[in-house]
Amino acid sequence: MPPSAPPKDRLRLAVQKSGRLATDSLDLLARCGIKVKTPKEKLLLHAGNFPIDLLFVRDDDIPQLVMDGVCDLGIVGTNVLEETALQRRTDGDGDGYELARTLEFGGCRLAIALPEERTYAGPADLAGLRIATSYPQLTKRFLAEKGVAAEVVVLSGSVEIAPRLGLAEAICDLVATGSTLEANQLRAVETVFRSSAVLIRAARELNPVKAHALELLLRRIDGVQLAAEAKYIMLHAPKSALPEIRKLLPGAENPTLLPLAGDESRVALHAVCQEAVFWETMESLKRAGASSILVLPIEKMML
Ligand code: PRP
Ligand code: ZN
Repeated sequence: MPPSAPPKDRLRLAVQKSGRLATDSLDLLARCGIKVKTPKEKLLLHAGNFPIDLLFVRDDDIPQLVMDGVCDLGIVGTNVLEETALQRRTDGDGDGYELARTLEFGGCRLAIALPEERTYAGPADLAGLRIATSYPQLTKRFLAEKGVAAEVVVLSGSVEIAPRLGLAEAICDLVATGSTLEANQLRAVETVFRSSAVLIRAARELNPVKAHALELLLRRIDGVQLAAEAKYIMLHAPKSALPEIRKLLPGAENPTLLPLAGDESRVALHAVCQEAVFWETMESLKRAGASSILVLPIEKMML
């Protein structure tokens, strides 16, 4: 794969410039072997070792950039994606993108929050309030489902200060750790939408060179995500205990058995466990007769 591919043969991926997804997006790419220097003042960065360019933008703009053909790919939260899709449906437009991969980060919820001191018994208490949000479509859908008449005030940022400014009595915004709400003396009272990060691709066809690069990228993402929970486990065990020990290993198929020098009755067992290995599992292995148990992280995996 020539890293110096001409622009027409380089994938263009939109990522969040700063915010909840920014660091995790770059971490995922780094684990896929895609390295970019991050002088954040630059909007477009070339990866030195993979035919991909990164465009750093506001997350809210990412679906549109992919649908308009400015970018081939985007990493975005399903919150932004669903909001955009609802807006496009309202406007009579099609989706224009495809889901390429669900990613294992960026978990958060879109929630309605009220000033801490305000009492709340249920959605009926939202009636007649002004709710500030950057997600009018999702907010309106929630209110309609609950049969509540409230006013939606659209703000493009800093939604959390709207109640203090007297712009609204409530907000509907993303909550990840909850620290933004806490810092603004707000508390979440209803969950409107649960979100996580995804990789989207443009619905149109890519040229063969880019299509091949995308295939490689997806395979690497799969390898990284597969390896995230997986562990390499090594232990010593009496041959007689092997059937029980194998039953205890989570998601391990066909372990390797190796003889131990000078010990006929015991073997070394090596296996890849596809699921998390907990202390409880290790304690059960020990009780079953295993010893010298080592659990090692796996960095990458290709099946
Ligand atoms: C969201 C949201 C809050 C923050 C909540 O921002 O607008 O500011 O995350 O996170 P917390 O519960 O951990 O404090 P986002 O990353 O979507 O950026 P943007 O609002 O600037 O687009
Ligand atoms: Zn945003």
